[in-house]
Amino acid sequence: MFLRALTLLPLALNVVAQQFAFEDDDLLSFVTLPGVRALKFDVQYQDRNRVSPGYWFVAPYGQMDPEGVTRQYRPYQVGPYIYDADGVLVWAGSPMFDNRNIFDFRAVHSIGNQPHLSLVWQHGSEDNGHGVILDNSYEIKKKIPMPSEFGAFDIHEFNILDDGETALALNYRTHDIPLDTFGRPGEWTRVLAAGFAQIDLKSEKLVYTWDGVDKIALQESNFVDPSSPSAGPPGWDYVHINSVDKNKDGDYLISLRFTDTIYLISGQDGSIKWRLGGKTSSFTQDFTFSKQHDAKFIETNGTRYVISFLNNASDELRNEEDISSALFVELETGVTPMTAKVIRRYPRPDGGLTRLRGNTQLLPNNNVFVGWSERGYISEFSPEGDVLLSANFVSSRFSTYRAYKFEFTGRPNNPPALVASVWGTDKTDLTTSFYVSWNGATDVAGWNFYARAAKNGHPIFVGSTNKTDFETLFIAKGYLDWVTVEAIDREGRVLGTSPLQRSKVPAHWGAAGFTGDLANLKADDPQKPRPTPQEEKQEEKHEDKQDEKQAPANELASNDKAPASRPSTPAMPFREDPDLKEITRLVHETYALVRNISGIFVLIVLGGLVCGIGAGIYFLLRRKPRAYEHVPREIPDEEIRLHSVRE
Ligand SMILES: *[C@@H]1O[C@H](CO)[C@@H](O)[C@H](O)[C@H]1NC(C)=O
Ligand SMILES: *[C@@H]1O[C@H](CO)[C@@H](O)[C@H](O)[C@H]1NC(C)=O
Ligand SMILES: *[C@@H]1O[C@H](CO)[C@@H](O)[C@H](O)[C@H]1NC(C)=O
Repeated sequence: MFLRALTLLPLALNVVAQQFAFEDDDLLSFVTLPGVRALKFDVQYQDRNRVSPGYWFVAPYGQMDPEGVTRQYRPYQVGPYIYDADGVLVWAGSPMFDNRNIFDFRAVHSIGNQPHLSLVWQHGSEDNGHGVILDNSYEIKKKIPMPSEFGAFDIHEFNILDDGETALALNYRTHDIPLDTFGRPGEWTRVLAAGFAQIDLKSEKLVYTWDGVDKIALQESNFVDPSSPSAGPPGWDYVHINSVDKNKDGDYLISLRFTDTIYLISGQDGSIKWRLGGKTSSFTQDFTFSKQHDAKFIETNGTRYVISFLNNASDELRNEEDISSALFVELETGVTPMTAKVIRRYPRPDGGLTRLRGNTQLLPNNNVFVGWSERGYISEFSPEGDVLLSANFVSSRFSTYRAYKFEFTGRPNNPPALVASVWGTDKTDLTTSFYVSWNGATDVAGWNFYARAAKNGHPIFVGSTNKTDFETLFIAKGYLDWVTVEAIDREGRVLGTSPLQRSKVPAHWGAAGFTGDLANLKADDPQKPRPTPQEEKQEEKHEDKQDEKQAPANELASNDKAPASRPSTPAMPFREDPDLKEITRLVHETYALVRNISGIFVLIVLGGLVCGIGAGIYFLLRRKPRAYEHVPREIPDEEIRLHSVRE
C-alpha cells in the first residue's frame, strides 16, 4: 500500500513542480555544495563518437563590468567552472573568487609535469585584477598583478606560453595624442592604445612590453573618424586589442577588433611586420573578415603561417556578414604579393552572429572547438566541418567570454563532501540518505558508503553506487550514523575519503511524521543485521533472545566488486530488499525531477517522500521555497563596450 502510494509521488511532484514557475531553474543546486548555483548546460550531440576527449572550461558572467560589493548573502554563480563532455559539472571554482568575474579560464599543460589552470580575475573596486595560476589540487599558486602604469590586468587574455615560464597579457595604454592626422591641428584627445606584455611567471616581472600608440594610426580605426569629438578619460578605445600570441621565431600576433586587423609584431624591434585585413592589408586575399577575436598561431615557419581566429563578422555597431565563423587562414609571406587564403571554415551552426566575444581552439585530434560566447554557446566540429556537438547554458542571463576544451586531471585537496540524513515514520521504515560529491575530482566512477556503531567504531560497508552526476544520492535502509564515503575510480581504487559525519535527523521527529517509539529510537549498529518487519514483530515478543543472532555469512571479501583497500567489512548486514530497491528507484527519479530547484526544496521533498505522500504534499504546498531574488526581472542589455579600464 505504502509502495503503491509512493509510485504516485513522482507524478504528483511533477504537477506541483510545474506550478512553481521558478525563475532560477536554469541553475543547478546541490545539497553538498549549498553556496553554489552553477549553470545548467543543454547539450546536443550530433555525432558523439567523433567528439574528442576532454572537459569544458567556461567562466560565466552576468555583466561585463564588475558588480558592486554587497553584504547580502548570495550563492555563487559567476566564476570558473569545469564541466565534462556531457555538460555535467566537475568543478565549481566560483567560491574562491568572491563572486567576481573570471575570464579566459583554461587548463595549462606546459607548467611542470602536472596540469594547471589559468584565468584572469577581473579588477574590482580595490585592485587592478590578476592573472591567476592554480595547480590541479585547485590551490592558487600565483596571483600576478599588473603594474598600475599599465592599467588593469586586461580580461581578454592570459596566455601561458609553451615554455611554461612566461605568459602574455594585454594592456590598454592611456595616452593623450594630438589630432593633427585627423586634420585638427592644436586639438588633443585621450586614447586607449593597444599594448601587451610578456610576464615572467617566477619573478612576476614584465620582461617585454609593447605599446602601439605610435605604430597604429587613428586612420586604421573603424571606431573613430576625423569628426569624432575628442575625449577625456578613459579616452577613445580606437583599436580594442583582444588577443596576443607568440611563435617560435619570437614574433607576436595581435588582434585589434576596431581596426578589423591582425598584426604580426616583430619580437626584435616591435615593428609591424604585416597586417592581415583592415584598410591596409599586406596580403592579397580571397576573403574578408572583421571584428575578429582570438587570433592564434597554428603553424609558423618564417614564410608560411597558419593562424586561427573567430570571425565574421559583427559587433555592437554593425554587421559585415550574416553569419559568424571560425577561420583557419594560411599566409604566404615568401612570395610577392603575399597571399592569404582560408583553408578551413566553420560557420556558426545556428546561423547566428557572435558579437563582441568568442574563441577558436584546434584540439589535439584536429577537431575544432568554438566558443560563440553568448549564453555559453559552444560547438565542436570534425576537421572537415561536421558539427559533432552543440551546447549552451540553459540560462539567458550569462555568457562566457571564451570556452575551451582540454584533457585534465583534478585531484582536489578538499575531501569528498557528504551529507547524510535519516527519515522514517517508525522503527521499521527508517532510511538513511547520503548525498555525496567531490568538487573538482575527475575520474570518480563510484562511491562506497560506510557507517559505524560509534565514533571510534569500525567502518562497516553499507553499500555502493555509481557516480551519476556532480552529486549522487544513495539510500540505505536503517538509521545509520557516523558515516563516511569513499570515492573510487573505474578500477575500484580509492581516490579519497570524506571526513566522518553524523547523520542529520529531523529536529521534531513527531512533526516530521514519526509515529514510533521515540524514547528508544537510536542509531543502528551497522554490524548487526537489520531485522525484517516480521522479525521485528517477533523480536518484540522475544526481546532478550535477540542478542544471540549472528550476522549472515555472505563475506564481502570474496566479492570481486569490493575494492581492495576498503576498511574491513566482516559481514554484509544489509539485505537486498525489493521494497527498498523500488523506493530507491523512485526517490532517484524524484530527485532528478526536482534537484535543480533548490537544496532546501529537495530536502523537504525527500523528507516528504519517506514520511509518506500525504505529509510530502503538505510540506510542498505549505513551504513554497523562495526563488533566488538577486537577479532583476528585467535584465538590462549588456554594457557592450568590452573595456577593461577602470573609470
Ligand atoms: C562569412 O561567412 C559566410 C557564411 O559562411 C561566408 O559566405 C562569407 O564569405 C564569410 N565572410 C568572411 C568575411 O569570411
Ligand atoms: C615553410 O613551409 C613552406 C610550405 O610547407 C615551404 O615551402 C617553405 O620552404 C618553408 N620555409 C622554411 C623557412 O622552412
Ligand atoms: C555502474 O557502472 C557500470 C560501468 O559503467 C555499469 O556496467 C553498471 O551497470 C552500472 N550500475 C548501475 C547500477 O547503474
